[in-house]
Amino acid sequence: SILIVDFGSQVTQLIARRVREAGVYSEIAPFTTAAEAFERMKPGGVILSGSPASVLDDGSPRVPQAIFDSGLPVLGICYGQQVMMQQLGGTVQLGDSGEFGRAFIDIADSCVLFDGLWSEGETHQVWMSHGDKVTELAPGFRPVAASSGAPFAVIADDSRRYYAMQFHPEVVHTPDGARLLANFVRHVCGLKGDWTMAEFRQAKIDEIRKQVGSGKVICGLSGGVDSAVAAVLIHEAIGEQLTCVFVDHGLMRSGEADQVVSLFRGHYNIPLVHVNAETLFLNGLAGVTDPEAKRKFIGKTFIDVFEEEARKIGGAEFLAQGTLYPDVIESVSFTGGPSVTIKSHHNVGGLPERMNMKLVEPLRELFKDEVRALGRELGLPDVFVGRHPFPGPGLAIRIPGEVTKERCDILRKADAVYLEEIRNAGLYDAIWQAFAVLLPVKTVGVMGDGRTYDCVCGLRAVTSTDGMTADVYPFDASFLTRVATRIVNEVKGVNRVVYDYTSKPPGTIEWE
Ligand code: XMP
Repeated sequence: SILIVDFGSQVTQLIARRVREAGVYSEIAPFTTAAEAFERMKPGGVILSGSPASVLDDGSPRVPQAIFDSGLPVLGICYGQQVMMQQLGGTVQLGDSGEFGRAFIDIADSCVLFDGLWSEGETHQVWMSHGDKVTELAPGFRPVAASSGAPFAVIADDSRRYYAMQFHPEVVHTPDGARLLANFVRHVCGLKGDWTMAEFRQAKIDEIRKQVGSGKVICGLSGGVDSAVAAVLIHEAIGEQLTCVFVDHGLMRSGEADQVVSLFRGHYNIPLVHVNAETLFLNGLAGVTDPEAKRKFIGKTFIDVFEEEARKIGGAEFLAQGTLYPDVIESVSFTGGPSVTIKSHHNVGGLPERMNMKLVEPLRELFKDEVRALGRELGLPDVFVGRHPFPGPGLAIRIPGEVTKERCDILRKADAVYLEEIRNAGLYDAIWQAFAVLLPVKTVGVMGDGRTYDCVCGLRAVTSTDGMTADVYPFDASFLTRVATRIVNEVKGVNRVVYDYTSKPPGTIEWE
């Protein structure tokens, strides 16, 4: 395994992800507890992360000496490089100007990290983000690559198996970065690279058992992939100590609520409380048109209902959640300053502030595609695991204006036609999210020999890797024509269909 010592960089989790992709198990330990983690894990190598700190500051974080004394390979990244130099006898100085963003490095010498990848004399793109820089190497090191702002962009001490780089190999903007990291874990540390999601599953099961003991856990299901994967994994670990609560707000897509209930009760035999709260939610939404007011009401009501059910179940000490890594970073402001709220996101993640329970979050270090892989590993059906993301407030934020049962039903029908056509065309998996919205505008049409005066349905489809930015999916005109025709013919209440051509930014993915 690999121990990743976290000095507080925003992208430390990406190092873990790259190491997992190279087929090697890794754990991240904050520098404050890295010595214990190192002792316990007995890793085959150590990676030191970047940091917002400067090694030149008093009391800045250090690498536990035991790591250097162990004779194991070490890779330093950015701050990790600087702190290595400082502790091993080199010099770090404040740079006159930093390097931020894309940079180019010249390869000056061969190095095991470059195996099969880079050769002397070549220039390669990397991603830098540093103010300080190494100005004098510690004894034993040689430079193997340089950039204009960092003469020691990559350095190596082959006899001690110490390597370090000023740039960030873990981010996608360093196109060969994943392979540099794979070379470190496989060629330098000599790790086999045969670790899989199956082992992640087992490691998490052991961890959950240890954390929970004989305690009771409740898990809120949203109908989405993340909470379902978390629940199935936890059930595998602790069986009947887990109870799932599915607060059905009646704002789900066509057939979705039944699918969740039959999957959990039928397929997995997991204890599930299905609360049908459609009336409560629709009554509360009557007359509400402001998007934020809708979101706030749904979020609050969801928690009220959930809390009430948890009280009825009684005795649960733990709350399970399908929090993913992007949820964790999104909640931390990058600049430390106040950030503007575009939308108040609601999901089962809003619960812990209200409920005094310990959290079980087995997916906290995973990205969406990894959760899907884990879901498949746990035997969740492909159609479920591959589902597009669906927002916590459901159809309410896809019906601008007032939400009524009638409007929800119209939207469900149009959405089902759209998604069916997308699946039939084999496009579902190429799209991050596709959905219909129902506009609060009526337009005039003509059908048969009669005049119609009905609603407009908007169609949206985007590609994205994380939902933070998105591109419009470029359907063929013939595809959109087919969908529009079917919706107008089959969905009573809709007589016009439009396609949303806005990327994010400036649009958001959802309309509210
Ligand atoms: P926006 O509309 O902000 O959406 O571009 C980005 C992604 O987040 C989803 N989304 C939500 N997910 N609770 C959720 O769990 C919410 O309140 C929520 N609002 C938006 C949206 O579907 C897209 O995938």
